[in-house]
Amino acid sequence: MKIVVIGTGYVGLVTGTCFAEVGIDVVCIDVDTKKIENLKKGIMPIYEPGLEEMVIRNAEKGRLQFSTSLKDNLTEADVAFIAVGTPPGEDGSADLKYVIAVAREIGQGINEHIVVVTKSTVPVGTANKVRNAVQEELNKRSSNIDFDVASNPEFLKEGAAIDDFLKPDRIVVGVESRRAEEVMRKLYKPFLLNGHPIIFMDVPSAEMTKYAANAMLATKISFMNDVANLCEIMGADVNMVRKGIGSDPRIGNRFIYPGIGYGGSCFPKDVKALIKTAAENGYNMRILNAVEEVNDAQKSVLFNKISKHFNGVMKGKNFAVWGLSFKPKTDDMREAPSLVIIEKLLAAGANVKAYDPVAMHEAKKDLGEQIEYSKDMNDAIIDADALLIITEWPEFRTPNFKVMGKLMKNKLVFDGRNIYDIGEMKENGFDYYCIGINTTK
Ligand SMILES: NC(=O)c1ccc[n+]([C@@H]2O[C@H](COP(=O)([O-])OP(=O)(O)OC[C@H]3O[C@@H](n4cnc5c(N)ncnc54)[C@H](O)[C@@H]3O)[C@@H](O)[C@H]2O)c1
Repeated sequence: MKIVVIGTGYVGLVTGTCFAEVGIDVVCIDVDTKKIENLKKGIMPIYEPGLEEMVIRNAEKGRLQFSTSLKDNLTEADVAFIAVGTPPGEDGSADLKYVIAVAREIGQGINEHIVVVTKSTVPVGTANKVRNAVQEELNKRSSNIDFDVASNPEFLKEGAAIDDFLKPDRIVVGVESRRAEEVMRKLYKPFLLNGHPIIFMDVPSAEMTKYAANAMLATKISFMNDVANLCEIMGADVNMVRKGIGSDPRIGNRFIYPGIGYGGSCFPKDVKALIKTAAENGYNMRILNAVEEVNDAQKSVLFNKISKHFNGVMKGKNFAVWGLSFKPKTDDMREAPSLVIIEKLLAAGANVKAYDPVAMHEAKKDLGEQIEYSKDMNDAIIDADALLIITEWPEFRTPNFKVMGKLMKNKLVFDGRNIYDIGEMKENGFDYYCIGINTTK
């Protein structure tokens, strides 16, 4: 089989590479010439564990190719995956201009049947728009080539994307024809050998499934953050509460860790887009409005603790920050809570020195030279008045507290991810703040 994947970002590159890994001929297309040139040289545009070696291996075998031209690569392709970005427009709705532009290009370029599959996260009704755009271009060419549209939302997690793609919990595909279903079943067969389900449904349901999944996960996070804030007021320990409720299989223990708010390229924009879709159709997503409100407030919770500790006087103080990316094992800085907290510290006149294992080059694009970037964890805390834990990278979990105490000006830690033990921090003489537990009593 042959496929083209249009948009070679997180989703497109992982998708294309994993399909090549199981023997399918793949061409990954992108309008970003530099990205494509780099990929041809084996230089990755993103940090994703395991991706680089898989890209290089499959490119060497000739199964994975990169190009800036969609037109030149449509011939004999069974499927065209659209995996371009769908960023929020000014009103919060998903901006479909890249998706539709690609659909038009497909309509201009195809010469035989193809299944046009939307992998980007798109609102219900987008497949219709894609179909219309392809058809309009065919009409301009007075062509009657047959094609199918399908929706195949992607559920991979950044930081574990390869594993998620190769061993998916489930694959969701919205189709309108038997032919499209057969093509998609054949394409995904190698990933289903372990019994993972492929769930076929109508296209609108598939489009909605992706938003409902992300909105549900965002809801779990905001719910737990709300509970954490109340725990602090009431003298309960949210870590205990989390274990207590997570052991109930109806609730489950994933996505109920309190923190400093969700970020990343998906949850914030997808929650916004779903609220907007509902509003446009006369429905008010009351829960999701609250989810967003809680999340926005949660991004300030750590700063508020810092401000309270320093009686509002942070001017000239040195803050070390461990972790910048929105979550571990990625360099993705989109909507990262670190940005909100650092901007607040800078506005208060503080100095910030940060360390992140992989995201500093990305963070620089947002923060520039307003902060200092450290070569390692210990360098960041030299002379620090306080340390902030923003991203729970594994290497931050078991630091040498004795060494830390010697390097820092104050033994003071604000932990936005609850990775340390309160007793151990006390034993080592640290003042310690975390989320959902009042540690000042
Ligand atoms: N990142 C994730 O974890 C994730 C997970 C699931 C779903 N998604 C969804 O997948 C979609 C893509 O997300 P992403 O994070 O991979 O985006 P991204 O920004 O990393 O990549 C998008 C790519 O599309 C390219 N592009 C734009 N217009 C193009 C065109 N006309 N032709 C060819 N290439 C074009 C861009 O240059 C860019 O490289 C979004 O809808 C997103 O919501 C993302």
